[in-house]
Amino acid sequence: MNNTNLFNPLDPALAVNPYPTYAALRKQDRIQMSAIGAYVLTHYEDVKQMLNDGATFQHQYVAQQKQRTGENVEDEPYFDYFRRMIFVSDGEDHRRLRKLVAKAFTPQQLTDLRHKAQIFATELYAEGARQGGMDFVSEFAFPFPLKVIGTMLGIPDADHAEIGGYATALNPVLEFLPMSPEVLAKANQAVEVLAEYFTKMAEERRKHPTGDLFSALVHATEDGDTLTNEELIANAILLYVAGHETTAGGTSLALYALHKNPDQFNFLKRNPDSIPGAIDELLRYDTPGQGTGRVVMQTVSIGDHTIEPGNFVLGYIGAANRDPEIYDAPDALNFQRDFTKTRPLTFGGGGHLCVGRNLARQEFEIAFTTLLTEHPSVRVQGDGCAFRDTPLMRGLKALPIEW
Ligand code: HEM
Repeated sequence: MNNTNLFNPLDPALAVNPYPTYAALRKQDRIQMSAIGAYVLTHYEDVKQMLNDGATFQHQYVAQQKQRTGENVEDEPYFDYFRRMIFVSDGEDHRRLRKLVAKAFTPQQLTDLRHKAQIFATELYAEGARQGGMDFVSEFAFPFPLKVIGTMLGIPDADHAEIGGYATALNPVLEFLPMSPEVLAKANQAVEVLAEYFTKMAEERRKHPTGDLFSALVHATEDGDTLTNEELIANAILLYVAGHETTAGGTSLALYALHKNPDQFNFLKRNPDSIPGAIDELLRYDTPGQGTGRVVMQTVSIGDHTIEPGNFVLGYIGAANRDPEIYDAPDALNFQRDFTKTRPLTFGGGGHLCVGRNLARQEFEIAFTTLLTEHPSVRVQGDGCAFRDTPLMRGLKALPIEW
């Protein structure tokens, strides 16, 4: 293990293009110690092991957040909600929450939503086309999944823009990296506003159940068990934030990737039926959820190295998805790849495999099929693009397009 010039997960350059750094780390060794005190994994098999072995690699959210935010983290409002969320719970607590959330999150919800999602996409692009151009990120990639997940949860249309702004402030909390005091203050404010909003909604849905996902969460039962009020509010906030931030990041990265690969862009314009089959490759090529963290619970070997219990590990999904031992020419965008044996780790794996993966795939399919069939003359103005500054929640913050 090479400990000189420690890799820094907070390096702003990673938010622009992390892939050359990952390639260098992968070549150097199986694990690295990083400048934030966490071990780093960049090989596909190692990241997969971290995701799949829930006995050895756990969230241990309290310990993890103490290391991240400080010993007094329990006084921070964000912590009280986030510690009850499914995505950071372990063992039996996680299995229980997962059963209840999965009960509410049914394939029928997706089918019911398809038609509305199609209308949202058509309307958002039509508005851009009327003006001759739009910022793809602020005028499509964000509002589209926000409207979809908001509709799914039963949030009225008129509230999407304001409530969605608060959800964005929670984006950095989903990362496992230290936060500045300003970012932390905004996140704390946002979580309180969202909690108040969903608490009111819960009171209404208890009295008057509707057919939306939020009602289903309120009323979900498994063997007589239900979500407590605190768990309900916390997990509704999670679905709202996770349900659009990653999709927004991924949609913008995918369009940028097509812009940089004009042959593939033209191929999809000529063959829109190939779009559903291209989604997993677009998400492998540039992955919105670049990494996730765990605490080691028992001594584990990675290559020639041993990691002792209590250590923190960052598994770089974005690096695993470009591992040359798994994918030939991994830096190329290639829609012919066969993923039957080596599924990209884009949506995680093991017990925490993404609950929203089919919703996300459906949103991608609608977003790109609508754009390329209804507006085939669309062009990206690559010069105006800008990357987000959250390196693990990767995406663009501006991507002008024109017709
Ligand atoms: C392209 C879009 C998306 C990507 C790349 C993505 C990625 C991921 C990943 C990597 C994980 C596992 C994290 C870990 O093990 O630490 C995860 C979990 C999760 N995702 Fe997604 N996600 C996406 C869209 C969505 C959507 C649309 C929703 C909800 C509507 C959603 C809800 C969740 C939830 C609730 C979990 C936690 C599951 C659990 O812990 O059991 N995600 N996602």
